Amino acid sequence: MPGKFTERILKAPIAFTFRDLILLPGLAEVEPSEVDVRTRVSTNYQLNIPFVSSPMDTVTEAEMAIALARQGGLGVLHRNCTVEEEVEMAKRVKRAESFIIRDVVTVRPDQTVGEAIAIMREHDISGLPVVDDEGKLVGIVTARDVRFAKPGLKVSDVMTGSEKLVKVSEDITLEEAKEILQEHRIEKLPVVDDEGRLKGLITVKDIMLRDKFPNAVRDEEGRLLCAAAVSPFDLERAVKLDKYVDILVIDVAHFHNRNCFEATKKILKNVGADVIVGNIGTYRAAEDAMTELDGIAGFRVGIGSGSICITMEFLKAGSPTLFATAQVADAVRDYGADLPIIADGGIRNPGDAALALALGASCVMMGNIFAGCKEAPGELVAIGGRYFKRYRGMASPSARAKRHAIDRYRSKRIAEGVEGLVPYRGDVASVVAEFVEGLKVAMGYAGARNIRELWEKARVAMLTEVGVKEAGPHSILLPSQEPLRSW
Ligand code: XMP
Repeated sequence: MPGKFTERILKAPIAFTFRDLILLPGLAEVEPSEVDVRTRVSTNYQLNIPFVSSPMDTVTEAEMAIALARQGGLGVLHRNCTVEEEVEMAKRVKRAESFIIRDVVTVRPDQTVGEAIAIMREHDISGLPVVDDEGKLVGIVTARDVRFAKPGLKVSDVMTGSEKLVKVSEDITLEEAKEILQEHRIEKLPVVDDEGRLKGLITVKDIMLRDKFPNAVRDEEGRLLCAAAVSPFDLERAVKLDKYVDILVIDVAHFHNRNCFEATKKILKNVGADVIVGNIGTYRAAEDAMTELDGIAGFRVGIGSGSICITMEFLKAGSPTLFATAQVADAVRDYGADLPIIADGGIRNPGDAALALALGASCVMMGNIFAGCKEAPGELVAIGGRYFKRYRGMASPSARAKRHAIDRYRSKRIAEGVEGLVPYRGDVASVVAEFVEGLKVAMGYAGARNIRELWEKARVAMLTEVGVKEAGPHSILLPSQEPLRSW
């Protein structure tokens, strides 16, 4: 009779992950181009594509979040920075486009032209409403007004005064705004209340961007959706970000932890945003979170599969992303909960994404793939005629040296991540286009019209080690194989 410890080995489940499994082909009723990849990322928010970028300081700052939301996905802003810096990133995303901009950058009439120019440059905008100390609109100053003006002049000397300004009230519709902008041939339309206080700004640029990105995901006011990572132990950061973001992502490597649970309860009581918790990797963790944490809006799952992770190797602890996804998806279903799952870590290609979705995920989160994009932070690095971008784990020595996200991992000494280079992949739009097309084709093979159908219909099979080799190119000399090609 095997004893307790031998039994532990004999009864060990197989923690299948991406390279182990394939999707079996099924009867396809539609062509891949007709496959619908819309999904939900949290209880209250839908995405048009199931791709989310990791909250890592070499992946998601405002530029990535803006680019991804415009494509219909979502960027999660990283937290390896001060609260103020993260709030500023969120504000940038929210300001990037909207029908009525609420968080308007303004200038006072007694400020100088030089100051107005500096503000425009800093925020990359071409005009500023001018408001007095009571918040009343007294004029507008544009790049054209200040182009050749002496920097020492006052803004009030060069602005277009309020009496000449076309302004509108808050109940304006998009169509009405377009007509007014056209009729007066103006670029900016201030929104004021009955007392003349500035309440917002409508711009031609924002309205045109809406038409340029028809797949973009937006909030009720037409601003891009935005998510931000927070530590469960940083209530102040969560509350400050809550004013700007739609979704907060509790960002720790091992969320199934008593202290994380208790701290998250406080955050849940104090914010209005959807709160996604993670990372978790087991049925039990999902079960505990669902029973103990009232009001969570989704799970981020997978521990140790990330391309920069060494947790599973070095600490022999983890839950590979696919296994974790299936575990959590079963728990969510058994509890009759309506909680979307983000499968996080280890995704190299559209097929990996399809597998994660087939095993119950609603979205996949990618760090490595997006780190290689133009919109990721950091410069291009050229080596031997090839281009790369830097990518580092949030538990890598250099990321930890910044210290702001140090509580993501429990140990102060042990590095659970590495840093290096990933191939440059071009802009987010083209990477997303390739992933979306690949995902649709993979779903087509599985015979699924949409993600819900994939959850019900998909069948998977396990590859042997020999099969894994056969899955890649073989028996052929590939003259120009990229050294870093991962898919
Ligand atoms: P990919 O495979 O896309 O994975 O590079 C990104 C995910 O990896 C996680 N992450 C880490 N995990 N040590 C870890 O064990 C780290 O230093 C680290 N940094 C990021 C995170 O979940 C991310 O979304």
